Amino acid sequence: MDYYSKTQLKDYNSFQTEAIAKIFCQPKNVEELRKCLLDYPNENKLVIGGGNNLFFTKDFDGLVINPQIKGLREISDDEEEDEDIFLEVNTSENWDEFVEYCVVRGFAGLENLSMIPGTVGAAPVQNIGAYGVEVKDAIREVVAIDIETGESVSFSNAECEFGYRDSIFKRTNRYIIISVIFHLKRTFAYIPRYFDLNKELEDKAEPTIEDVREAVIRVRSRKLPDEKALPNAGSFFKNPYISKEQADSLIKDYPGLPAYLQKDGMVKTSAAFLIDKAGYKGKRVGEIGTYPNQPLIIVNYGSADGNDIVGFMRKVQDAVKNAFNIILEPEVRIF
Ligand code: EPU
Repeated sequence: MDYYSKTQLKDYNSFQTEAIAKIFCQPKNVEELRKCLLDYPNENKLVIGGGNNLFFTKDFDGLVINPQIKGLREISDDEEEDEDIFLEVNTSENWDEFVEYCVVRGFAGLENLSMIPGTVGAAPVQNIGAYGVEVKDAIREVVAIDIETGESVSFSNAECEFGYRDSIFKRTNRYIIISVIFHLKRTFAYIPRYFDLNKELEDKAEPTIEDVREAVIRVRSRKLPDEKALPNAGSFFKNPYISKEQADSLIKDYPGLPAYLQKDGMVKTSAAFLIDKAGYKGKRVGEIGTYPNQPLIIVNYGSADGNDIVGFMRKVQDAVKNAFNIILEPEVRIF
């Protein structure tokens, strides 16, 4: 495996910000990955999968690891009558190609997560979610390498400490995911969970798994910008949790405010709605702006400097804070 010094990271983050990595490598298997940890024990380390949820504001003074570890195997003995199916998928497989693989074979559980950019190994890091499903619902186990010891460690679903766009892997930065073991089902039945998707499928009496994938792709294509044409990192902020009192008082002024009561009594509301009502929908400052169809997405119209994104992010946060007294937290990781 080769090491490259002073590598430009622009093509390794979907926002296309420029930054130089001091050292860069692309291990093709677990042995090579372990070797690069041993070769550079004292460097800061950053693992980049597809680079779809991060951007840079400065050069990276350390080792950037961009794994290229591919492969997939079915773990369950292939008895057709068995309802459950287990697949171990290596970290660098493309997420949506894997979802398509499952849909084509009728393995159910991930179809709502169609067309999300990125790699399989990145999916558990931020517990990707869409249309009422989170990837944690279909994960049995995550296999990772401990950066500090080089040992492999296996995490059960509970040990991953999944939360909304969160996991132990996002919080600690200590583990490099090498594979994910999914638990899927051979039988599919559509469960209505999300308004946009239900509407898209309203002419189907009993949507098939393929119908659901196609409907998700249509909804996403309408709402979300193509990162190749308009660099972005998906939803920029998390949807905020507010108190029931605050939600009740906001709904008086904004009857359309989306508000979902959570088990803990807090209310989850919509960052897109708040940004929109704060006057920041489709707004552009210099080369950075919110996407006109979905203001939760910040898009890059041509800046090479991540600091421009941070400057714009602060403007959006201030506008929402001033209008609603709600602090929007970034979902994207900033380096
Ligand atoms: N809205 C507006 N104005 C707009 C657009 C939306 O007010 O211009 C409001 C509407 O009330 C709408 C609500 O925002 O009902 C929700 O919009 P949407 O259905 O697009 O979902 P979201 O909450 O903004 C979340 C995820 C997305 C995921 C969708 C669909 C987060 C941070 N984002 O967005 O995930 O695709 O739901 O399930 O939870 C991502 O994480 O990168 C991502 C794209």
